[in-house]
Parts: sequence; C-alpha cells; structure tokens
Amino acid sequence: MQSIDTYDFSGKRAIIRVDFNVPLDADFRVTDDTRIRAAIPTIKKVLAGGGSVILMSHLGRPKKNNDEKFSLRHIIPAVEARLGQQIDFADDCMGAQAAEKSAALKPGQVLLLENLRFYAEEEGKPRGLADDATDEQKAEAKKAVKASQKEFVKKLASYADCYINDAFGTAHRAHASTALIADYFPADKMFGYVMEGELKAIDKVMESPERPLVAIIGGSKVSSKIVIIEKLMERVDTLIIGGGMTYTFMAAQGGKIGDSICEPDQFDVALSILAKAKEKGIKMVFAQDALCGKEFSNDTPTQVCPSDAIPDGWEGMDVGPKAMEAFRAAILESKTILWNGPVGVFEMPTFEKGSRAVAQAIVDATAQGAYSLIGGGDSVACINKFGMADRVSYVSTGGGALLEYMEGIPLPGVNAIQK
Ligand code: 3PG
Ligand code: MG
Repeated sequence: MQSIDTYDFSGKRAIIRVDFNVPLDADFRVTDDTRIRAAIPTIKKVLAGGGSVILMSHLGRPKKNNDEKFSLRHIIPAVEARLGQQIDFADDCMGAQAAEKSAALKPGQVLLLENLRFYAEEEGKPRGLADDATDEQKAEAKKAVKASQKEFVKKLASYADCYINDAFGTAHRAHASTALIADYFPADKMFGYVMEGELKAIDKVMESPERPLVAIIGGSKVSSKIVIIEKLMERVDTLIIGGGMTYTFMAAQGGKIGDSICEPDQFDVALSILAKAKEKGIKMVFAQDALCGKEFSNDTPTQVCPSDAIPDGWEGMDVGPKAMEAFRAAILESKTILWNGPVGVFEMPTFEKGSRAVAQAIVDATAQGAYSLIGGGDSVACINKFGMADRVSYVSTGGGALLEYMEGIPLPGVNAIQK
C-alpha cells in the first residue's frame, strides 16, 4: 500500500474511484456538492505532482446502459467549478473513447468516465432476469456476469498506471471499481484524502475519544439503527435518542403516542436497550416533549405534548422545547460528539427547530474545543441546510459506509487497498 502524500505521480495516469453519487434536481443540477468538494484535494494532489487523472464513479442505481437520467455528464459543470479547470468526458466507460482519451491524457488533465453502473459488471449482479427465472437460470446469469466482470475490471485498470480509492461513501460495496480493480495495482494503490480523513475521523470517535463521548442518534426507525446503537453502547457515556424512534421507546414503556410512527415488533429491542444502558451506566437522554402535528405536512396545526402522552389524532414530528434544552446540556458537557440522524422532520420548516438546536449545540461545543463528527445522509443534509457544516470538526461523505464501518463490518473498499 502506497501513500498519496509520498507517491510519485509525475508522468503517471491515476484512476481515482470517487463517490460522485450526488443529488440532482429536476433540471439535473447538483443540489449538494459535498462529495465533489471533498474529492478536490486528492485530484489536485495528483495534478500538482505532474500526473493526470481519470475519474470514475456511479450515479444512482441505473438498471440499464445509457439511461440519460443517470448520466455523469450532468455533473461536469459542478466538478469544473470546484476544480477550477475544464475536464474531458468519455461517454461510455468501456467505449473506445475511454481508452483513447485516457491514453492521450497529458499531465495536468482530467477525464471523467460515464457512469460505471451503466454496466451490470460494476456491481457484478445479473440484470434483466425474468421474474419467473428458475434458480438454475439465476445461477447461470450470475456466473456469466462474474465472468464478464473480469474483463470489465481489466479494461478499467488498463486506462491507468496507479489506482486511488477515494470513494468512502461506496466503500461498503464490493464492486469492480471499489475493490476488484485494486488487484491490478499491487504496488501502486492507495487511499485518497477523503478515505484517509474519514477513517481517521471515525477511529477518533470509536477508538480513542476524549470523554465524555455523546452520540445523538435520530431517524425514524429503531430497526434500522439497532446495530449501531448496540455498538455505540459499548463506547458512549451519553446516548441521545431523537426522531421517530422515540415513540417506539415510549410505547414500549406503556406511553401513549397518538398517531406517531411506531414499530411494535421492536418493543423488546427497545426495552433491552434501556436495560443495557442501566446496567452499563450509560446516560440515556430521550425527548421529554414533542412538537406534534395533526397531519404530516408543514402547515398542519401543532401542539407540544409530553412524548408519552400524545393524544389520538396527533403525531410527534419534532422534539419539544424541554427536549431541546436537555439535548443541548448533554452535548455541551461532552468532549466528543457523534451525530447521526435528524431529531425531527427537518425538511419541513415547522419541524426543523429540534434538529437546528442540536446542530447549534454541536457548533457551540466544537467552538469550546469538542471534536464533532456528523455522518449519515440526512444529518449531513440537515447541517448543510442550516449552513453550519464549516463549524463542526468533520462532516462525513458516507451514509451506509459510515454506519457499517462503525458497526465493525469490514469495508471491501478499505480492505482492497490495505491487503
Ligand atoms: C450512497 O450514496 O449510498 C453511495 O454512493 C453508495 O450508493 P449505493 O447505496 O447505491 O450503493
Ligand atoms: Mg446507499
């Protein structure tokens, strides 16, 4: 494994797997360029070292080739704006153009390849199987795509002299461009700065946090956060639970939650989390009160209720003022802070106040010297919406990858470089 800091890029073509899976609006304009901005230092490092760059990424989950909706062509202006120079584009990552253009790259030049997932070989999963395909047909199709995947990887690798994986957001996928390609560059593979930064930030929180360590876990479902909550309970001093999950915990303890979101099949899980917290001496902070709405809309009538005494016909959509105060106090007394998941329906201005209060408390704690890591798609969108991203210690570009890494699951994209 090489280091991007010491590798000699002069005269070399570096193929960089970036995660440019960014949100686009109806006119195909990039609405959040966090992931593009994050990749710029790596690209610039190669160019400054006298190398050229081939960028490869997926965008969305296309199911067929050349689906215009998922073309990476749409993001060219956003990349050029952040990079400060023009880039070239190859409209098929397997086409003659891709090979010719990468061979002709001169030091300082950048080429972007079209969406890797236009090919089933990127993920290595068969496509277009009939709904009633037999197990035999499925196995056959899988074998075929695994075979053609070898050619796909080989071709991508042939474009370059060295390989950089900087796609932290996709590091939990064992795909052609994130894992398999590394084998072609045994002595010329390395992490980019996004990867390095992400791994360092997570290790700082999970392995050697300055205490107290608080985690704020939001989101609507206990079921999707249970593994990370259990993992965090081995480490945190304080656990703040926010978002729709709150009502499952309240209902599990016999509370009245009106029409709030609830997973009755998770009651046992919720109760065992509470018991474990007690046993381990972890301070659990729940929202005592909730801002409730009559309907799931921004303009609905609202009232503040205790989170365990919500009348029928009302649902909790944000935390209330008492909760905001309690969350703030717990955050301000911590030295390391992890935030994953908004604590209310922050997309609606009426119900964004709780998440805004959490973000503000994290910003204030950071200003006092705490280390803060924000991760997971929604909380990142949230901190960006509030314009506070530059006042926390680290904003992760990973969603699923971040959670899996924190859960202790080995990431194929990381292992492929390290092995
Ligand atoms: C993401 O945004 O989650 C990553 O880019 C990975 O995409 P995927 O979940 O479609 O594999
Ligand atoms: Mg994902």
